[in-house]
Amino acid sequence: MSAPKLVGIAGSFNRPSKTYTLVQTVADLAGDRYGFTSKVYDLHDVGPSLGSAQWRKDLDDQAKSVIDDIVSSDALIIGSPTFKGSYPGLFKHLIDLIDPHELRAKPIIITATGGGDRHALMVEHQLRPLFGFFMAHTLPTAVYASDRDFTDYKVSSEPLAARISEVVGELAAFFPHPVRVLAAAE
Ligand SMILES: Cc1cc2nc3c(=O)[nH]c(=O)nc-3n(C[C@H](O)[C@H](O)[C@H](O)COP(=O)(O)O)c2cc1C
Repeated sequence: MSAPKLVGIAGSFNRPSKTYTLVQTVADLAGDRYGFTSKVYDLHDVGPSLGSAQWRKDLDDQAKSVIDDIVSSDALIIGSPTFKGSYPGLFKHLIDLIDPHELRAKPIIITATGGGDRHALMVEHQLRPLFGFFMAHTLPTAVYASDRDFTDYKVSSEPLAARISEVVGELAAFFPHPVRVLAAAE
């Protein structure tokens, strides 16, 4: 049985990036627990054609391949920095280029970072409704992290680590038989 594919997209241009770290940390834990193959992208990986593309066909091959990977994933991790209480415009533009049916019923872990706690509910008020539009299965636990949850761009707070573990546990509803467990039984 082939490993299910987990794709993460961090809506940040910064390198290093707290959002990318958060998405990668979730992906690593999910990979360990369920045997996913995983790939995490940021907006640099999408590349410069995104800003000028009105339609998906206007994207260059690099950007198209990231979107192809997103829509063909078995599960998705979304990470967004908080800009003015919401997601950045260019991140939304990437999502706007995905057709409504392409994320339908996909399990999605929603995560975000922000400078402080003031906009912690952006995961519930902005990201969850966005993926509700696609009729995706956003997992019940949303993960928001602020600057103080990181040290040197690594997750360093216990409450954040616990929340990451909680949402990764919720993937079990969709992947009840981790690939490694199946492989061991064969
Ligand atoms: C244009 C801009 C707007 C921002 N607006 C907010 C905001 O409304 N609330 C907040 O908590 N942080 C805000 N921030 C801080 C970023 O969300 C925060 O630094 C984030 O973790 C950066 O993620 P990154 O390291 O992945 O790029 C803003 C940052 C920028 C550059």
